[in-house]
Amino acid sequence: MPTSNLTNAKNAKNDEFYTQYIDIQKELEAYLEYNSDVFRSKVIYCNCDDPFESNFFRYFVLNFNKLGLKQLITTSYKPSPVANTQLILFGDDKTIPKLKGRPKITANKFIINEVHDVNDDGEFNLKDIAEKLKANKHNEWSPLEGDGDFRSEECVNLLKQSDIVVTNPPFSLFREYVKQLFDYNKKFVIIGNKNTVTNKEIFPLIKENKMWVGTTSYNKDILFIAPSNADLSKKPKTAIRKVDGITYLRSPSVWFTSLDHGRRHQPLPLMTMEENLKYSKHKEIKGKKAYDKYDNYDAIDVPYTDAIPSDYIGVMGVPISFLDKYSPDQFIILGSTQRGCHDEVPDTKKYDNYWEVKQDGKKTGSSGGKTNENGNLVGNDGKKNYFVNNEGRTIQSAYSRIFIKHKKK
Ligand SMILES: C[S@@+](CC[C@H](N)C(=O)[O-])C[C@H]1O[C@@H](n2cnc3c(N)ncnc32)[C@H](O)[C@@H]1O
Repeated sequence: MPTSNLTNAKNAKNDEFYTQYIDIQKELEAYLEYNSDVFRSKVIYCNCDDPFESNFFRYFVLNFNKLGLKQLITTSYKPSPVANTQLILFGDDKTIPKLKGRPKITANKFIINEVHDVNDDGEFNLKDIAEKLKANKHNEWSPLEGDGDFRSEECVNLLKQSDIVVTNPPFSLFREYVKQLFDYNKKFVIIGNKNTVTNKEIFPLIKENKMWVGTTSYNKDILFIAPSNADLSKKPKTAIRKVDGITYLRSPSVWFTSLDHGRRHQPLPLMTMEENLKYSKHKEIKGKKAYDKYDNYDAIDVPYTDAIPSDYIGVMGVPISFLDKYSPDQFIILGSTQRGCHDEVPDTKKYDNYWEVKQDGKKTGSSGGKTNENGNLVGNDGKKNYFVNNEGRTIQSAYSRIFIKHKKK
């Protein structure tokens, strides 16, 4: 197999993890708390969801009437290893060709316009529900012509008909997936990896308040359901949990959305700089004379979100997890230390004539160019690698940072 096909196959395997009902319910109900009509009269599209596997489908069916949905569209993806494996649930369905061995694999679409008789007691018998939904002449279940790729013409046509897209899309296609949502101007609630926050394509959308993190805490990882045939041999043991015969995989993922929610409008309670230096619970701040200034940015380093000084009017570099507490009423996001993401906060120095050294004094062989555009602080904390030049000047890089400032009142 050519390398690119191998990579694609590997990526596709990493894409096969399923979201738990409880996580979907918790996230979506927070939007409803803020606006109980957020889904009313809306067409919801779950475009990476096998209706027989997806808890997104399950959530929207169970709550179809309560939410006042106009329509729910769900499409599955043919290359998925679970595609059609649940078709047996359709019993003696005459529309499914009877084949020897594995049933014919198709990508399917389910268009729900009406939901009757679904009891909302948390019990969800897929077979009953599917049969009732299918028997209802106002609903449509049919195989797609293509493979159900969210980029295919028939899926894009369904996307055009929808108002809000809600799903956990394939991790490996996340950037393309988000781009398509914006190309078609769709509202969304989706899951993505935390690393994508500082991505060159994703970060500008966050900076411009076109997309933000959802309501579930950013600091918590999400536990996904792993399919029974998942190869977890390369995953760290701490990421895997088995409960009642089901395997879960912990992933550093986060909800992203363009729907408004209450937490975005709760200002973060903060102390002044003087109070922080006197009383902060963080030993890196308490007792110091001032906050550290970066060597290469005109900004101070704030290593903890709760240590943002309420009275500092300049630029501050804060941890990425700040986004969990970000209120656009309180702060402006100016950039991040990611290359290509800080035009408004330019770096003032390069480190090409420095070299990297380990704490034991040995050179790593890397040039200081490696730390260009990171938020760099003068000194050596005695813990992590540092960079030094011919004059013995030493600097160390802080973790990834987002540049913010207080919004003028
Ligand atoms: C991370 S899983 C999540 C599944 C489901 N949305 C959930 O949350 O339980 C991503 C799903 O996207 C499907 N997928 C992969 N590539 C796709 C594509 N190009 N178009 C549509 N779906 C795709 C995979 O088969 C997989 O089931």
